[in-house]
Amino acid sequence: MPVGPAGRKGHQPGMVPSLACVAGGAVERLGTRRGPANYSKIRNMTTTLSAVSNEPGTRAVSQGANSQLIWQIMESAHYFTAQPAGPFTRKPLTVELAGATRHLQTSSGIFSPDGVDKGTAILLSDVPPPAPQGNLLDIGCGWGPIALTLGLMAPHARVYAVDVNERCVTLTNENAAALGLANVTASLPHEVDPAVEFDTIWSNPPIRIGKDELHSLLLNWLPRLAPGGNAWLVVQKNLGSDSLQRWLAAELDASFSVSRESTSKSFRIIRVRKASR
Ligand SMILES: C[S@@+](CC[C@H](N)C(=O)[O-])C[C@H]1O[C@@H](n2cnc3c(N)ncnc32)[C@H](O)[C@@H]1O
Repeated sequence: MPVGPAGRKGHQPGMVPSLACVAGGAVERLGTRRGPANYSKIRNMTTTLSAVSNEPGTRAVSQGANSQLIWQIMESAHYFTAQPAGPFTRKPLTVELAGATRHLQTSSGIFSPDGVDKGTAILLSDVPPPAPQGNLLDIGCGWGPIALTLGLMAPHARVYAVDVNERCVTLTNENAAALGLANVTASLPHEVDPAVEFDTIWSNPPIRIGKDELHSLLLNWLPRLAPGGNAWLVVQKNLGSDSLQRWLAAELDASFSVSRESTSKSFRIIRVRKASR
């Protein structure tokens, strides 16, 4: 499998989102520097926030909207860890997937816990139907909106859903069972048989893990497209979609073609095609 080194020519590292972080009474705006460094800063800051939240100088920010902001930051900084902090408490989630209302479960400590993320919704509405048979993949499944949609749209295909967050793996499996989808299996990434090739890959990839990790993630899965297979990735424009597209085009071998398929709101859909034999 051609796995190249990450971070090469043409790549502008993705910007992290701009977050107003409140710590010890100070407001710091992140997102003006590039790369994963800011994420470790946020991760470290969550510890700081926990530690200082009872200090007199921070009383004002530990209440009301600011308190909510702090917890949102803490959660967003940790959703892609294997075992997120806080109890794994399931709560009901009602969403529209594949044209019908679905009653599912979600929890804290995961990405977009309260509904279908905006980028994910764009992916689900804009890309063509998946291969009707064969192997389909959702890279970074969260609570399962993409994998479940694949399973509902392609009942004769086998859907693989992977995530590093164990809570996501559990929720996606439970949500698949709730929908009666025996064709959807979620697992940790290393549990998928490395010999399996995929006819369709759909993903809202974890841009926020940092450039090098994102590159190695994509170079682990995209070369496993089957001949004639397609991957569709939704990436926010201000998180480096265009530079990621250029990087993929430069990095994948000549049997792949990379194109921008659409732009909707602030999102791009990148298509990676593997030539037929
Ligand atoms: C942007 S979220 C998308 C989640 C879900 N597909 C959705 O649309 O709501 C990306 C997901 O990738 C997961 N992730 C992070 N690093 C990963 C890795 N190395 N391999 C697989 N999944 C990863 C995160 O835990 C997160 O659930």
